[in-house]
Amino acid sequence: MKQHLNRQQKQAVEQRRGTHQFRQRQVIKRDSDSPQYLWVDGKKYLNFSSNDYLGFSCHPAIIQSWQNAAMSEGLGSGGSPLITGYHAAHASLEETLCDFLNVQDVLLFNCGFSANQAFIKTMVSAETTLIQDKLNHASMIDAGMALPGQMKRFRHNDLAHLKQRLLQSGSNKLIATEGVFSMDGDVAPISEIFDLADEHQACVYIDDAHGFGVLGLQGCGSISAAGKQTHEATGYMATFGKALGTSGACLALPSDVKEYFIQFCRPYIYSTAMSIPQAAATQTAIEVLQKESEHQQKLSENIQTFRKLAKQAGLSLMNASSAIQPVIFQTDEQAKTASQVLKRAGLWCHAVLPPTVPAGSARLRVTITASHQEADIQQLISFLSEAVHDTFCIG
Ligand SMILES: Cc1ncc(COP(=O)(O)O)c(C=O)c1O
Repeated sequence: MKQHLNRQQKQAVEQRRGTHQFRQRQVIKRDSDSPQYLWVDGKKYLNFSSNDYLGFSCHPAIIQSWQNAAMSEGLGSGGSPLITGYHAAHASLEETLCDFLNVQDVLLFNCGFSANQAFIKTMVSAETTLIQDKLNHASMIDAGMALPGQMKRFRHNDLAHLKQRLLQSGSNKLIATEGVFSMDGDVAPISEIFDLADEHQACVYIDDAHGFGVLGLQGCGSISAAGKQTHEATGYMATFGKALGTSGACLALPSDVKEYFIQFCRPYIYSTAMSIPQAAATQTAIEVLQKESEHQQKLSENIQTFRKLAKQAGLSLMNASSAIQPVIFQTDEQAKTASQVLKRAGLWCHAVLPPTVPAGSARLRVTITASHQEADIQQLISFLSEAVHDTFCIG
Protein backbone atom coordinates (compact mmCIF):
# COMPACT_ATOMS: atom_id res chain seq x y z
CA MET A 1 0.00 0.00 0.00
CA LYS A 2 1.17 3.50 -0.82
CA GLN A 3 2.65 5.30 2.23
CA HIS A 4 2.02 9.04 2.22
CA LEU A 5 4.14 9.78 5.27
CA ASN A 6 7.59 8.26 5.78
CA ARG A 7 8.55 6.44 8.99
CA GLN A 8 10.07 9.51 10.69
CA GLN A 9 7.05 11.63 9.88
CA LYS A 10 4.68 9.03 11.33
CA GLN A 11 6.82 8.71 14.44
CA ALA A 12 6.87 12.48 14.88
CA VAL A 13 3.06 12.61 14.99
CA GLU A 14 2.85 9.58 17.30
CA GLN A 15 5.41 11.04 19.70
CA ARG A 16 3.37 14.22 20.00
CA ARG A 17 0.03 12.49 20.41
CA GLY A 18 -0.74 12.18 24.10
CA THR A 19 1.67 14.98 25.06
CA HIS A 20 0.62 18.53 25.93
CA GLN A 21 2.21 19.69 22.69
CA PHE A 22 -0.25 17.85 20.45
CA ARG A 23 -1.82 20.54 18.27
CA GLN A 24 -5.53 20.54 17.48
CA ARG A 25 -7.93 22.94 15.80
CA GLN A 26 -11.29 24.07 17.15
CA VAL A 27 -14.25 25.22 15.09
CA ILE A 28 -15.02 28.74 16.27
CA LYS A 29 -18.28 30.60 15.77
CA ARG A 30 -18.57 34.34 16.19
CA ASP A 31 -21.40 36.87 16.18
CA SER A 32 -20.54 40.20 14.53
CA ASP A 33 -22.67 42.05 17.12
CA SER A 34 -20.42 40.94 19.99
CA PRO A 35 -16.83 40.41 18.84
CA GLN A 36 -15.51 39.84 22.36
CA TYR A 37 -17.24 36.44 22.48
CA LEU A 38 -16.76 33.17 20.64
CA TRP A 39 -18.69 29.91 20.68
CA VAL A 40 -17.20 26.42 20.62
CA ASP A 41 -19.50 23.37 20.55
CA GLY A 42 -22.40 25.67 21.46
CA LYS A 43 -20.70 27.07 24.59
CA LYS A 44 -20.10 30.81 24.85
CA TYR A 45 -16.68 32.13 25.91
CA LEU A 46 -15.17 35.56 26.48
CA ASN A 47 -12.34 35.63 23.97
CA PHE A 48 -8.93 36.58 25.37
CA SER A 49 -6.94 35.03 22.52
CA SER A 50 -7.85 37.27 19.61
CA ASN A 51 -5.55 39.46 17.52
CA ASP A 52 -8.57 41.50 16.41
CA TYR A 53 -7.21 44.22 18.71
CA LEU A 54 -9.62 46.98 17.70
CA GLY A 55 -12.68 44.83 16.98
CA PHE A 56 -12.49 45.88 13.30
CA SER A 57 -13.39 42.41 12.01
CA CYS A 58 -16.97 43.31 13.00
CA HIS A 59 -16.94 47.06 12.26
CA PRO A 60 -20.09 47.92 10.23
CA ALA A 61 -18.39 50.36 7.80
CA ILE A 62 -15.62 47.87 7.03
CA ILE A 63 -18.09 45.04 6.47
CA GLN A 64 -20.20 47.33 4.28
CA SER A 65 -17.19 48.23 2.18
CA TRP A 66 -16.46 44.50 1.64
CA GLN A 67 -20.08 43.94 0.57
CA ASN A 68 -20.14 46.92 -1.79
CA ALA A 69 -16.93 45.86 -3.51
CA ALA A 70 -18.13 42.26 -3.85
CA MET A 71 -21.45 43.36 -5.34
CA SER A 72 -19.91 45.76 -7.82
CA GLU A 73 -16.64 44.05 -8.79
CA GLY A 74 -16.91 40.43 -7.65
CA LEU A 75 -14.72 38.39 -5.33
CA GLY A 76 -11.40 36.91 -6.44
CA SER A 77 -8.89 39.09 -8.28
CA GLY A 78 -8.71 36.52 -11.08
CA GLY A 79 -4.96 36.52 -11.51
CA SER A 80 -1.51 37.29 -10.23
CA PRO A 81 -0.67 41.00 -9.97
CA LEU A 82 1.41 41.02 -13.17
CA ILE A 83 -1.27 39.32 -15.29
CA THR A 84 -4.90 40.35 -14.56
CA GLY A 85 -5.01 40.44 -10.74
CA TYR A 86 -4.02 44.06 -10.06
CA HIS A 87 -7.30 46.01 -9.89
CA ALA A 88 -8.18 49.60 -9.06
CA ALA A 89 -8.97 48.50 -5.48
CA HIS A 90 -5.37 47.27 -5.05
CA ALA A 91 -3.86 50.42 -6.55
CA SER A 92 -6.06 52.56 -4.32
CA LEU A 93 -5.15 50.59 -1.19
CA GLU A 94 -1.45 50.90 -2.05
CA GLU A 95 -1.82 54.66 -2.42
CA THR A 96 -3.69 54.95 0.89
CA LEU A 97 -0.98 52.90 2.64
CA CYS A 98 1.81 55.04 1.13
CA ASP A 99 0.16 58.21 2.45
CA PHE A 100 -0.69 56.69 5.83
CA LEU A 101 2.78 55.28 6.41
CA ASN A 102 4.61 58.10 4.62
CA VAL A 103 6.61 55.65 2.51
CA GLN A 104 7.57 55.62 -1.16
CA ASP A 105 5.91 52.40 -2.25
CA VAL A 106 3.90 49.42 -1.11
CA LEU A 107 3.28 45.89 -2.43
CA LEU A 108 0.33 43.78 -1.27
CA PHE A 109 0.51 40.13 -0.19
CA ASN A 110 -2.10 37.59 0.86
CA CYS A 111 -0.60 37.16 4.32
CA GLY A 112 2.21 38.31 6.57
CA PHE A 113 3.93 34.92 6.52
CA SER A 114 4.31 35.16 2.76
CA ALA A 115 5.38 38.84 2.87
CA ASN A 116 8.15 38.08 5.41
CA GLN A 117 9.44 35.15 3.40
CA ALA A 118 9.22 37.18 0.18
CA PHE A 119 11.23 40.04 1.64
CA ILE A 120 14.01 37.93 3.11
CA LYS A 121 14.36 35.57 0.17
CA THR A 122 14.34 38.39 -2.38
CA MET A 123 16.62 40.82 -0.50
CA VAL A 124 19.24 38.53 0.98
CA SER A 125 21.79 37.85 -1.75
CA ALA A 126 24.89 35.66 -1.46
CA GLU A 127 26.90 38.59 -0.03
CA THR A 128 24.33 39.59 2.60
CA THR A 129 24.35 38.62 6.27
CA LEU A 130 20.88 38.48 7.79
CA ILE A 131 20.97 39.34 11.50
CA GLN A 132 17.74 38.45 13.29
CA ASP A 133 16.33 38.73 16.81
CA LYS A 134 16.14 35.23 18.32
CA LEU A 135 12.42 35.63 19.02
CA ASN A 136 11.48 36.62 15.48
CA HIS A 137 8.41 35.02 13.94
CA ALA A 138 8.76 31.56 12.37
CA SER A 139 8.27 33.02 8.88
CA MET A 140 11.48 35.08 9.18
CA ILE A 141 13.47 32.38 10.96
CA ASP A 142 12.47 29.79 8.35
CA ALA A 143 13.36 32.12 5.48
CA GLY A 144 16.75 32.72 7.11
CA MET A 145 17.35 28.98 7.63
CA ALA A 146 16.90 28.47 3.90
CA LEU A 147 19.97 30.67 3.35
CA PRO A 148 22.78 28.45 4.63
CA GLY A 149 25.58 30.23 6.41
CA GLN A 150 24.12 33.67 5.95
CA MET A 151 22.00 34.04 9.05
CA LYS A 152 23.13 35.18 12.49
CA ARG A 153 20.80 35.60 15.44
CA PHE A 154 21.10 38.03 18.33
CA ARG A 155 19.68 37.63 21.85
CA HIS A 156 16.20 39.06 22.20
CA ASN A 157 16.32 42.89 22.20
CA ASP A 158 20.00 42.76 23.23
CA LEU A 159 21.69 45.74 21.53
CA ALA A 160 25.20 44.79 22.71
CA HIS A 161 24.81 41.35 21.14
CA LEU A 162 23.40 42.90 17.96
CA LYS A 163 26.44 45.17 17.79
CA GLN A 164 28.73 42.18 18.19
CA ARG A 165 26.93 40.42 15.34
CA LEU A 166 27.25 43.51 13.14
CA LEU A 167 30.99 43.67 13.81
CA GLN A 168 31.34 39.98 12.87
CA SER A 169 29.57 40.48 9.52
CA GLY A 170 30.71 41.59 6.06
CA SER A 171 29.74 44.79 4.31
CA ASN A 172 26.14 43.84 3.34
CA LYS A 173 24.01 43.47 6.45
CA LEU A 174 20.28 43.29 7.04
CA ILE A 175 18.87 43.51 10.58
CA ALA A 176 15.40 41.96 10.97
CA THR A 177 13.22 42.36 14.03
CA GLU A 178 9.59 42.72 15.12
CA GLY A 179 7.93 45.96 16.23
CA VAL A 180 5.88 44.21 18.94
CA PHE A 181 6.90 40.63 19.71
CA SER A 182 4.05 38.23 19.11
CA MET A 183 4.63 35.96 22.10
CA ASP A 184 6.20 38.31 24.68
CA GLY A 185 4.24 41.47 23.85
CA ASP A 186 7.29 43.69 24.38
CA VAL A 187 8.57 46.19 21.83
CA ALA A 188 11.91 46.27 20.03
CA PRO A 189 14.31 49.17 20.82
CA ILE A 190 13.69 50.46 17.29
CA SER A 191 15.30 53.86 17.65
CA GLU A 192 18.55 52.34 18.96
CA ILE A 193 18.46 49.63 16.28
CA PHE A 194 18.19 52.27 13.54
CA ASP A 195 21.11 54.19 15.10
CA LEU A 196 23.25 51.03 15.27
CA ALA A 197 22.30 50.21 11.69
CA ASP A 198 23.45 53.67 10.55
CA GLU A 199 26.72 53.27 12.43
CA HIS A 200 27.38 49.92 10.72
CA GLN A 201 25.84 50.68 7.30
CA ALA A 202 23.22 47.97 7.76
CA CYS A 203 19.69 47.86 6.35
CA VAL A 204 16.69 47.35 8.67
CA TYR A 205 13.55 45.25 8.24
CA ILE A 206 10.66 45.56 10.70
CA ASP A 207 7.80 43.05 10.94
CA ASP A 208 5.04 45.14 12.53
CA ALA A 209 2.26 42.54 12.55
CA HIS A 210 1.26 43.53 16.11
CA GLY A 211 2.19 47.22 16.08
CA PHE A 212 0.47 48.39 12.89
CA GLY A 213 -2.95 49.88 13.65
CA VAL A 214 -2.19 50.04 17.37
CA LEU A 215 1.03 51.99 17.98
CA GLY A 216 2.09 55.40 16.67
CA LEU A 217 0.00 58.33 15.54
CA GLN A 218 -3.42 56.99 14.40
CA GLY A 219 -1.90 53.52 14.52
CA CYS A 220 0.71 54.07 11.80
CA GLY A 221 3.02 51.65 13.56
CA SER A 222 6.03 50.90 15.73
CA ILE A 223 8.67 52.83 13.78
CA SER A 224 6.76 56.07 14.07
CA ALA A 225 5.99 55.30 17.74
CA ALA A 226 9.76 55.02 18.29
CA GLY A 227 10.30 58.52 16.86
CA LYS A 228 11.72 57.35 13.52
CA GLN A 229 10.24 57.43 10.02
CA THR A 230 8.87 54.25 8.48
CA HIS A 231 10.62 55.10 5.18
CA GLU A 232 13.99 54.88 6.96
CA ALA A 233 13.57 51.07 6.92
CA THR A 234 14.55 49.13 3.81
CA GLY A 235 11.45 47.02 4.45
CA TYR A 236 8.44 47.36 6.71
CA MET A 237 5.80 44.65 6.91
CA ALA A 238 2.27 45.32 8.18
CA THR A 239 -0.42 42.66 8.43
CA PHE A 240 -4.12 43.35 7.93
CA GLY A 241 -5.44 40.29 9.78
CA LYS A 242 -4.79 41.68 13.25
CA ALA A 243 -5.67 45.31 14.18
CA LEU A 244 -7.24 45.98 10.76
CA GLY A 245 -9.64 43.05 11.11
CA THR A 246 -9.39 41.87 7.47
CA SER A 247 -6.51 39.74 6.15
CA GLY A 248 -3.43 40.10 3.99
CA ALA A 249 -0.30 42.17 4.39
CA CYS A 250 1.89 44.77 2.76
CA LEU A 251 5.57 45.46 2.35
CA ALA A 252 6.49 49.15 2.41
CA LEU A 253 9.61 49.61 0.31
CA PRO A 254 11.76 52.33 -1.28
CA SER A 255 10.81 52.74 -4.98
CA ASP A 256 13.93 51.05 -6.37
CA VAL A 257 13.40 48.05 -4.07
CA LYS A 258 9.75 47.82 -5.14
CA GLU A 259 10.80 47.79 -8.80
CA TYR A 260 13.30 45.03 -8.08
CA PHE A 261 10.54 43.03 -6.33
CA ILE A 262 8.15 43.40 -9.27
CA GLN A 263 10.87 41.91 -11.47
CA PHE A 264 12.22 39.21 -9.16
CA CYS A 265 10.08 38.51 -6.07
CA ARG A 266 8.69 35.07 -6.80
CA PRO A 267 6.01 34.94 -4.04
CA TYR A 268 4.65 38.23 -5.42
CA ILE A 269 4.86 37.35 -9.10
CA TYR A 270 3.53 33.79 -8.90
CA SER A 271 0.56 34.17 -6.54
CA THR A 272 -3.03 35.29 -7.12
CA ALA A 273 -3.50 38.85 -5.88
CA MET A 274 -5.72 39.39 -2.83
CA SER A 275 -9.47 39.49 -3.44
CA ILE A 276 -11.04 42.80 -4.44
CA PRO A 277 -13.39 43.06 -1.41
CA GLN A 278 -10.43 42.35 0.87
CA ALA A 279 -8.47 45.26 -0.64
CA ALA A 280 -11.51 47.57 -0.44
CA ALA A 281 -12.34 46.61 3.16
CA THR A 282 -8.69 47.03 4.21
CA GLN A 283 -8.66 50.52 2.74
CA THR A 284 -11.82 51.37 4.70
CA ALA A 285 -10.20 49.96 7.85
CA ILE A 286 -7.33 52.44 7.43
CA GLU A 287 -9.80 55.28 6.93
CA VAL A 288 -11.65 54.21 10.09
CA LEU A 289 -8.33 54.15 11.97
CA GLN A 290 -7.73 57.74 10.97
CA LYS A 291 -11.26 58.95 11.77
CA GLU A 292 -12.15 57.01 14.93
CA SER A 293 -9.40 57.30 17.52
CA GLU A 294 -11.74 55.93 20.21
CA HIS A 295 -10.86 52.31 19.34
CA GLN A 296 -7.17 52.80 20.09
CA GLN A 297 -8.07 54.82 23.17
CA LYS A 298 -10.30 52.02 24.46
CA LEU A 299 -7.65 49.39 23.77
CA SER A 300 -5.05 51.36 25.65
CA GLU A 301 -7.43 51.87 28.63
CA ASN A 302 -8.23 48.15 28.64
CA ILE A 303 -4.54 47.22 28.66
CA GLN A 304 -3.95 49.58 31.60
CA THR A 305 -6.98 48.15 33.43
CA PHE A 306 -5.69 44.61 32.90
CA ARG A 307 -2.22 45.45 34.19
CA LYS A 308 -3.53 47.40 37.18
CA LEU A 309 -5.95 44.65 38.23
CA ALA A 310 -3.35 41.94 37.65
CA LYS A 311 -0.92 43.78 39.90
CA GLN A 312 -3.57 44.19 42.60
CA ALA A 313 -4.30 40.47 42.39
CA GLY A 314 -0.60 39.68 42.87
CA LEU A 315 -0.14 38.28 39.37
CA SER A 316 3.26 38.98 37.94
CA LEU A 317 3.34 40.00 34.33
CA MET A 318 6.05 40.47 31.75
CA ASN A 319 7.35 43.89 30.80
CA ALA A 320 4.78 44.24 28.02
CA SER A 321 2.85 47.38 27.30
CA SER A 322 1.03 46.03 24.24
CA ALA A 323 -2.25 44.14 23.83
CA ILE A 324 -0.26 40.90 24.26
CA GLN A 325 0.06 40.14 27.99
CA PRO A 326 1.67 36.71 28.54
CA VAL A 327 1.48 34.86 31.85
CA ILE A 328 4.37 32.38 32.13
CA PHE A 329 4.19 28.97 33.86
CA GLN A 330 6.86 26.61 35.12
CA THR A 331 5.68 23.65 33.07
CA ASP A 332 3.71 22.98 29.90
CA GLU A 333 1.20 21.05 31.96
CA GLN A 334 0.53 23.98 34.28
CA ALA A 335 -0.10 26.33 31.37
CA LYS A 336 -2.42 23.81 29.73
CA THR A 337 -4.29 23.20 33.00
CA ALA A 338 -4.73 26.93 33.62
CA SER A 339 -6.17 27.33 30.12
CA GLN A 340 -8.63 24.50 30.87
CA VAL A 341 -9.62 26.06 34.22
CA LEU A 342 -10.39 29.33 32.41
CA LYS A 343 -12.36 27.51 29.72
CA ARG A 344 -14.53 25.86 32.32
CA ALA A 345 -15.28 29.36 33.63
CA GLY A 346 -16.24 30.55 30.12
CA LEU A 347 -12.99 32.34 29.25
CA TRP A 348 -11.03 31.42 26.13
CA CYS A 349 -7.33 31.92 26.74
CA HIS A 350 -5.00 29.78 24.69
CA ALA A 351 -1.92 28.11 26.18
CA VAL A 352 1.14 28.53 23.95
CA LEU A 353 3.69 25.79 24.49
CA PRO A 354 7.18 24.90 23.25
CA PRO A 355 8.31 24.61 20.47
CA THR A 356 6.30 27.74 19.59
CA VAL A 357 7.96 29.43 22.61
CA PRO A 358 11.32 28.50 24.23
CA ALA A 359 11.32 25.42 26.50
CA GLY A 360 10.40 26.31 30.08
CA SER A 361 8.33 29.33 29.09
CA ALA A 362 4.89 27.85 28.38
CA ARG A 363 2.33 30.59 28.76
CA LEU A 364 -1.17 31.82 28.57
CA ARG A 365 -1.00 34.36 25.77
CA VAL A 366 -3.63 36.80 27.04
CA THR A 367 -4.70 39.34 24.44
CA ILE A 368 -6.71 42.40 25.37
CA THR A 369 -8.91 44.10 22.77
CA ALA A 370 -10.96 47.27 22.44
CA SER A 371 -14.10 45.08 22.35
CA HIS A 372 -13.68 44.04 26.00
CA GLN A 373 -15.63 45.78 28.76
CA GLU A 374 -14.06 46.48 32.16
CA ALA A 375 -16.26 43.76 33.69
CA ASP A 376 -14.83 41.24 31.18
CA ILE A 377 -11.31 42.08 32.32
CA GLN A 378 -12.32 41.89 36.00
CA GLN A 379 -13.74 38.45 35.34
CA LEU A 380 -10.54 37.37 33.60
CA ILE A 381 -8.36 38.55 36.50
CA SER A 382 -10.49 36.82 39.05
CA PHE A 383 -10.39 33.43 37.30
CA LEU A 384 -6.79 33.91 36.21
CA SER A 385 -5.64 34.40 39.83
CA GLU A 386 -7.50 31.24 40.75
CA ALA A 387 -6.01 29.29 37.84
CA VAL A 388 -2.52 30.57 38.55
CA HIS A 389 -2.84 29.74 42.23
CA ASP A 390 -4.12 26.25 41.45
CA THR A 391 -1.30 25.52 39.04
CA PHE A 392 1.58 27.06 41.09
CA CYS A 393 2.43 29.66 38.52
CA ILE A 394 5.78 31.37 38.78
CA GLY A 395 4.93 34.03 36.18
C1 LIG B 1 5.04 38.66 14.24
C2 LIG B 1 4.24 38.03 13.15
N1 LIG B 1 4.66 38.14 11.89
C3 LIG B 1 3.98 37.60 10.87
C4 LIG B 1 2.81 36.91 11.08
C5 LIG B 1 2.08 36.29 9.94
O1 LIG B 1 1.04 37.12 9.52
P1 LIG B 1 -0.23 36.49 8.81
O2 LIG B 1 -1.08 35.91 9.89
O3 LIG B 1 -0.86 37.62 8.08
O4 LIG B 1 0.30 35.43 7.89
C6 LIG B 1 2.32 36.78 12.38
C7 LIG B 1 1.05 36.08 12.63
O5 LIG B 1 0.62 35.30 13.07
C8 LIG B 1 3.06 37.35 13.45
O6 LIG B 1 2.64 37.22 14.72
